[in-house]
Amino acid sequence: MIPRKIREDIEKLRREILRLDKLYYEEDKPEVPDSVYDGLVAKLKALEEKYPESLAPESPTQQVGGRPSAAFKSVRHAVAMLSLDNAFSETELREWEDKIKRFLRREVPIRYLIEPKIDGLSCALTFENGELVGAATRGDGQTGEDVTANVLAMKSIPKRLKAVFPEVLEVRGEVFLRVDDFEKVNAEVEAAGGEPFVNARNCAAGSLRQKDPAITARRRLRFFAHSYGVWRGGGVPETQRDFLRRLESMGLPVPEPVWEAATIDEAAAVYRDFKAKILPGLGYAADGIVVKVDSFKLRAELGETAKSPRWALAVKYPAEAVKTKLLNVEFSVGRSGVVTPVAKLKPVFCSGVTVSSATLHNFDEIKRLGLKVGDAVWLERAGEVIPHVVGVAKEERTGLERQIVEPRSCPSCGGPLTREEGFVALRCDNPACPAQLKRRILHFASRPGMDIRGLGESVVDGLVDSGRVKDAAEIYGLSLGDLLKLPLFKDKKTQNLMKEISESKSRPLSRLLFALGIPHVGEKAAETLAEHSSLEELAEAKAEDLASIPEIGDVMSRAIVDYFRAPGVRSLIKRLKAAGLDFKRVERAAGAKPLAGKTFVFTGGLRSLSREEAESRVKTMGAKAASSVSKKTSYVVAGSEAGSKLDRAKALGVPILDEKEFLELVK
Ligand code: IVH
Repeated sequence: MIPRKIREDIEKLRREILRLDKLYYEEDKPEVPDSVYDGLVAKLKALEEKYPESLAPESPTQQVGGRPSAAFKSVRHAVAMLSLDNAFSETELREWEDKIKRFLRREVPIRYLIEPKIDGLSCALTFENGELVGAATRGDGQTGEDVTANVLAMKSIPKRLKAVFPEVLEVRGEVFLRVDDFEKVNAEVEAAGGEPFVNARNCAAGSLRQKDPAITARRRLRFFAHSYGVWRGGGVPETQRDFLRRLESMGLPVPEPVWEAATIDEAAAVYRDFKAKILPGLGYAADGIVVKVDSFKLRAELGETAKSPRWALAVKYPAEAVKTKLLNVEFSVGRSGVVTPVAKLKPVFCSGVTVSSATLHNFDEIKRLGLKVGDAVWLERAGEVIPHVVGVAKEERTGLERQIVEPRSCPSCGGPLTREEGFVALRCDNPACPAQLKRRILHFASRPGMDIRGLGESVVDGLVDSGRVKDAAEIYGLSLGDLLKLPLFKDKKTQNLMKEISESKSRPLSRLLFALGIPHVGEKAAETLAEHSSLEELAEAKAEDLASIPEIGDVMSRAIVDYFRAPGVRSLIKRLKAAGLDFKRVERAAGAKPLAGKTFVFTGGLRSLSREEAESRVKTMGAKAASSVSKKTSYVVAGSEAGSKLDRAKALGVPILDEKEFLELVK
C-alpha cells in the first residue's frame, strides 16, 4: 500500500512535470530553470523507485519529450528517438559504469567517447543515395514534425553528402545557435520590432519550428550530428569515433570538441574540467557532457530501456540558478523605438560574474512570470553569457511586493507608446525621441558600422542631450569646439575623435548601409546590397527590384523601401553625401568574378567533372551553388539522368545548360 500523502505527492509531481514539459517542448517557453525541472524529475523518480507499484506508463519518467505541433505534417520515426539518462555528479557517473558492467555480466574494459551535451533541438535528417530528402524534430519520440523545408533552407546542413555514404542514412543531431550568432539574431529580431528570444535554445527551436523557411535561412542555425537511426548499405561503423569520422568525411558537421577515455577515471576527469576550462570558450550552450560507450558491439549488448539507451549518459552540472531580489524595473528604449523592460537586481554572483541587471524582454514576459518588484527571483545565465530571470520564488512573498505597471508613455520623450497588432513589443513612434536617437548613433558608430572609436555612450549622451546632434549626418559637422564643450574632453581626446570621424568617411558602402540601421539589414545583407547598387539607386529602388537580388527576401525588400520613404531619411542621405561619404557600389574585382550574382543549380551527373568540382568552379568565379530551383536561379546545369529539378527549371523558364554549354561558360 502506498500511503495517501505519498500518492498525492507523486500525482502532483507528475502533473507539474507534464505541464512544464508542454511549455518546454511544445510552446518553446520554459518556465523554470532546467535545474529546477531536473530536481522535480529526480524527486519523482526516487518516489517511484521506492514505491514501484506506483509506476504507470503515463508517468513523465516513462515518456520522451512533447507532442508534435499540429502546425507541421507528422512523420513517424523509423526508429524511436530516445532521450538520455541524466546524472549530476562524478559519483553517479561511476555508478552508471558499475550498472552497465553488471548488466553485461562480465568484466570487460569499456572505452568511452565523450561529447558536449549540446543545448539545442534534436533533429533527424534522412539522406537517400546521398541526397537530403527529409528532416524531422523529435516530437514525442515516435512521431515528430516534418521540418524538411526549413532544414533545406539551413546553410550549415549539406544537401548532398560527399565521398562514400550509405544508401540510406538517417542521422540525428542537434540544431543550435552559437552564442554570438544568437545575440545577432536577437538584435535583428528586435530591430524588426519582434519579440526577442529568451535563450539560444528557444531561438533555435522557434527558428526551426515555424512556417517560413526564408526566416529559418536567416537565423544562423547550426547542426552537429551525434547519432543515427538508420544506416543501410555500406559497412556500419564499429565505434562512435569511427562513426563521427565517417560523418565528417561525408561533409556532415559533428560535435567539437570530443574526448576519448580509456577508463571511467578519464571520463570523470573530462567532466571535472569541462565546466571550468572548456565551456567558457565553447561558443555554444552546452549543459554538460554525454559519455558514450565507444564500441557499437557493446552497445548492441546493452540495448535500451523504453526511454533511453543504456550505453550513454548525460552528465550535467548541478543547479547554477541563483536567487536574488528584484529591486526595480526600468524601461529602456531601443534604436527602433521598442521599449524593453530591464530588471534591476540586487547584485549576485552567477556563473563567474556579478549580475545586477537582466533584460525582461517585453511586458508579456513580466505577466508570464507573474513578476512583482521586491520578489525573490531565479536568475540564470543562458549559454553562460546573457543573464535572465527564469522564475519567481512566489512562496517567499511577504505581501509588500509592488505590481509592475505597463508604461503608457515613453520614458525618454514622454510620447505615447503603441503596440502593433500581433506583436508583443511596446514602441515609441517618435523619430526624434532622444533615447532612440542615441541608440541609432551608437549603432552608426559601432564596429561593424562606421567604426568610429571614441564615440561611445557618454559622448553620444552629451551630444544629443545638448541638442548639438540630431541625426547621424550631424556627426560630420562637429567642430573641435563642440567636442571640447563635453565634460572630460581635453585636446588630445578631441583630436583623436575628430580624426576617427574623418577617417570613417571612407568606409565602403556596405558598412554605411549596415550603420544606417535599416530594419532587417544585417552585415551580410548590407554586403550583398552594396554589390548591386549605389546608395542613391537603393533609395529609389522598388521592392520587386530588390527582391530579385539573391538572398534579399520580400520582407527585407519592403523594409528597405519603407526606410527610405520615412520622413527625414532623404535629407539625412543628402547630408551624408555632402559630408563626402562613399556611396558607390562595391565593385568586385573585374574579371576575377565574372559570375558574381549568379546562382547555379546542378542536377544529374556530369561526365568530365564531379558535382563538387563543378560547384567549386562556379563559386571561385563569384557565383553561388544552390540545391533547389527557384525563379532566382540563373542557370540549371543538367547532366545525365537529370531529375525533378530539370522539370522545375522548365516550368519556371530558368535557362538550362548541358555539360558542353556549362564548360564553355566556365572556361
Ligand atoms: S546521443 C538518446 N549526443 O540530448 C539517443 N545526444 O536529453 C542518443 N543531445 O534527445 C543521443 N547533445 O538530442 C547525444 N552529444 C550528444 C547530445 C545529445 C545533445 C540531446 C539529444 C537527446 C537529448 C536527451
